[in-house]
Amino acid sequence: MQSLNDRIEKLMLENRREAGIHQYTVPSPDLYPFQWLWDSCFHAIILSYFDVDAAKQELRAAFSHPLVNGMIPHIIYWQHDTAQTNWGREMRGDVINAAWGVVGTSAITQPPIMAMTAWRIYEKDNDIVFLQEIFAVLSKHYRYLCTDRRLGSSPLAFIINPDESGEDNSPRFDNAQGLAPQHTANQNLDRRIDRMRENALCDFMARDCMSKHFAIIDVPFNIFLSESLEFMSQIAALLDETDDADYFNTEGRKVSEAVSELLCTDSICSSYDSNGKTAIETQTWSMFMPLYGGLLSQEDANELVEKWLLNAKHFWTEFPVPSTSIQELSFDATKGFWRGPVWIAPNWIIYKGLKRYGFDTIADEIKEKTEALINKSGFREHYNPHTGAGLGANNFTWGGLVIDMT
Ligand code: GLC
Repeated sequence: MQSLNDRIEKLMLENRREAGIHQYTVPSPDLYPFQWLWDSCFHAIILSYFDVDAAKQELRAAFSHPLVNGMIPHIIYWQHDTAQTNWGREMRGDVINAAWGVVGTSAITQPPIMAMTAWRIYEKDNDIVFLQEIFAVLSKHYRYLCTDRRLGSSPLAFIINPDESGEDNSPRFDNAQGLAPQHTANQNLDRRIDRMRENALCDFMARDCMSKHFAIIDVPFNIFLSESLEFMSQIAALLDETDDADYFNTEGRKVSEAVSELLCTDSICSSYDSNGKTAIETQTWSMFMPLYGGLLSQEDANELVEKWLLNAKHFWTEFPVPSTSIQELSFDATKGFWRGPVWIAPNWIIYKGLKRYGFDTIADEIKEKTEALINKSGFREHYNPHTGAGLGANNFTWGGLVIDMT
């Protein structure tokens, strides 16, 4: 029997693809045959345990197609052949070739964990030349998020499409899209294609789109943003880019303070919908993001963990952590996608947050149960939180993140 680490390394090699001078990893060969932005950050972190050069290649490829406005898009269609995939949205409305309004990539982004990832890779071998190489693209992307994704005087960033959260059909986005808590996957996809059409009407010019259409201040996106702005500041300082170092430091603080002041009350932080005016009360795993961001007092963190995470009526299932609380009407353990099943990236983030606040035993239990999911059902896209049965794509890479549950 191969060790888990060997199995992870094998999976990462099998999912590796080449495109000209670039090398990248597909999240799943059958269902997700392109390059996705936050997946590639996960891949780089996983690869850095086996082959730090491959980790750098993964990021170079992910950052190789910035749009004119500086934004790094969430999908690169290295191969344009739609026939090779039966993946939902890509088969609808000629998305790859037309609807995004650009060629070869999407025109929306994903959670901004790139600077954090770049720093993690730098820590492995102190390759400052690599940071120099990627700095300009990253800098433009984060400056774009700190300008074009804001409305009014608030430093918080808006997402303009549910997929930008990385949690495509999360019930956090139901109200804003006029969806009832229970609906089919196709109904959800229809609404998200409507969002794309709206985005296309405003030419994906975020400020214009945000003032007219779907615009959400999402808690995970903003917590990842504030963290990565701090890392951008650290990278800039290392590269003697002092103005950038000051700029990113100031913006990072502003975002983090605004998350605490505007989105959080005691231990609960809420995303806001309809252009930032209504709190979204749907209980999803994102409730635990403030632990990762270090935004809570120890007392509030204790309350959050006891009342919500360890509560069998909400998130403490046989195989935690369900993406949506089992109390929610929207919860669906098998067909829910982001509306119930366990995904390994959130478990990894929750693990890190628990460690940050000294909940080592609970963190270890989450790690053990995550490993148990892989041992029982293989590398799947997501899992039933009650039975541990595997769901969605096969040979899915995110399971590799258990290697970084340290
Ligand atoms: C799904 C996930 C998204 C991920 C993509 C590729 O759309 O919701 O987070 O980036 O698959 O794995």
